[in-house]
Amino acid sequence: MYTTLLVESADNILFLKLNRPDALNALNNQMFDELKLFFSNDYKDYSFGSVIITGVGEKAFAAGADIKELHGLKASDAEILSSKGQAIFKLIEEFHAPVIAAVNGFSLGGGCELAMACHFRVASTKAKFGQPEVNLGIIPGYGGTQRLVQLIGKGKAMELLMTGDMVGAEEALRLGLVNYVVEPDQLMEKSKELANKINSKGPLAISGVIRCVNGHFIPGIDGYALEARTFGEIADSDDFIEGTGAFIEKRKAAFKGH
Ligand code: COA
Repeated sequence: MYTTLLVESADNILFLKLNRPDALNALNNQMFDELKLFFSNDYKDYSFGSVIITGVGEKAFAAGADIKELHGLKASDAEILSSKGQAIFKLIEEFHAPVIAAVNGFSLGGGCELAMACHFRVASTKAKFGQPEVNLGIIPGYGGTQRLVQLIGKGKAMELLMTGDMVGAEEALRLGLVNYVVEPDQLMEKSKELANKINSKGPLAISGVIRCVNGHFIPGIDGYALEARTFGEIADSDDFIEGTGAFIEKRKAAFKGH
């Protein structure tokens, strides 16, 4: 049903693969529409599992917005495109289940912005990150000026955004842009290991963590109040009774997601 995405599933993990390898998985309008469909419609009620996003092919996670579609864009259309991309990446950031980026190669421009919208990132030693938009005479439009600051701090973000320089996986690790760097043949294994670990926890608790951590970055939101409210809501669940009961009875919890 998708033409720019491949979706596979195994062991409560959905593998979402960006599938335009001939264009280094550049994000075109079609891919945006399909990402929106995936996160806001087709898998909206997906629970009890994680999503791992990666790129098809050896070379790229995603080499940015499709430059051929950007070329000649007029101001009003460009603003609409930026808002559309931001809204779709926000769907990913706010998705109720964990979304892990398994970054297998170039993660540039919109590709870096997509990886940053995921809840965290695992990189192969071949990954390269950057926001090279200034080379094209434009700025990042899908949240890059905001999320890069959140992840690596203002000074280094300013430098990368202004120079357009790429950083390798080890430097990305040092900067806090990625959580792990592994050999390419270990990328999916490491990502799956993390997803499986998270999948064994209470799904309501995982959704709560996502909501509260995101709340920290939303202007006007009192993160502590949000945390207390979420804590209260989740305490009302069968899973909380199950989790605490299992601890007391020295057995593994069997969470049901309600
Ligand atoms: N949009 C559209 N097509 C892209 C693309 C993008 N962002 N990035 C790569 N491609 C296409 C190339 O046009 C080429 O297609 P072609 O064979 O039909 O000409 C194909 O993907 C392979 O790319 P190529 O440049 O030949 O590979 P490379 O190994 O020499 O270089 C990169 C790899 C990533 C360094 C280079 O492709 C690049 O700089 N891409 C643009 C990155 C960018 O500026 N992203 C931000 C966009 S806002």
